[in-house]
Amino acid sequence: MTDDVAVVGGGAIGFAVAWRCAQRGMRVAVYDPAPGSGASSVAAGMLASVSEAYFGEPELTALMVASAGLWPAFAKELAAFGDVGYRTDGTLVAALTADDAAAAARLWRYQASLGLPAEELSAEQMREAEPVLHPRVRRGARLGDHQADSRRLVAALRTAAEAAGVRVVAQRVDSLSEVDASVTVVAAGTASAGLTGLPVRPVKGELLRLRAPEGEPGFRHVIRGYADGRRVYVVPRTDGEVVVGATEQERTDVVPTAGGVLDLLRAATDLVPELSEYALAEVGVGHRPGTPDNAPIVGTWRDGVVVATGHYRHGILLTPVTADAVAELIATGEVPRVVAPFSPSRFTEEGEQV
Ligand code: GLY
Repeated sequence: MTDDVAVVGGGAIGFAVAWRCAQRGMRVAVYDPAPGSGASSVAAGMLASVSEAYFGEPELTALMVASAGLWPAFAKELAAFGDVGYRTDGTLVAALTADDAAAAARLWRYQASLGLPAEELSAEQMREAEPVLHPRVRRGARLGDHQADSRRLVAALRTAAEAAGVRVVAQRVDSLSEVDASVTVVAAGTASAGLTGLPVRPVKGELLRLRAPEGEPGFRHVIRGYADGRRVYVVPRTDGEVVVGATEQERTDVVPTAGGVLDLLRAATDLVPELSEYALAEVGVGHRPGTPDNAPIVGTWRDGVVVATGHYRHGILLTPVTADAVAELIATGEVPRVVAPFSPSRFTEEGEQV
């Protein structure tokens, strides 16, 4: 029997789209040979609508802020299907040297100028907020960014989707002609390029998972650091995990490098010395689905095919807004205003759907 919707890609975006479509009464299948094993399984889960609001990306920032606004209700709705580790303790940006502080301040002042929650803190205020920070931290800022546990998120989304009637088909899709559905949604991360020809490329990231020696880590904020010119983020979870990330390289291999691990650990322990006592539990490598303008590709690609891909550094943050928008588009044929700037037509020659 022909499905109403086939979703190619069983990561956070794919399962969330499937769930939202099934909630609207559609018959849905998700195709993935290894669900949950792509970029979502490596992601740190920072919901960085403030700290990754970069210069010159106003439409992307608006989308990120819109999705951050959906997250509290999204996490609450998902709680019936699993704990997704949604934490609202906030984020600190910490700078070690005068040069680090100048670079960091330029960005957080821009973010504050957009009306986003970014409050500058002195060295004393930073250590008051997180006593684990190294005494060398010169100054920083408190941002209103939160976090979720990406692996738990995918598991909860899959459970929610299956409870709503979604079928999971453990099958690799090499061509869209292989699936039998009225609408196919391509949510296949870096594999979306081969399925559609759209410019989605792999951007390699190395990332570490540490374990606190006893119970919870000794700090509760996400810490984003500028340490002697190196950039790092450190994400504490209540279950004792601490994610340290991430390198960023235009490479397709999956080899963790000694240099990558060294850089991450050096920057992380320069900022939070006690991390050197934590167990090194995992060295992960993943590929962010990057696009030429760093923004996702969401919309109708051609008749019967919708894309929801290219979320680059923001897949976990953008999951709820993408899922709602795609379900709305399929149900009504209308493109929700919030995703209108991210149409695939921006990558076709005529700016038209192909
Ligand atoms: N969003 C964090 C990263 O891509 O490393």
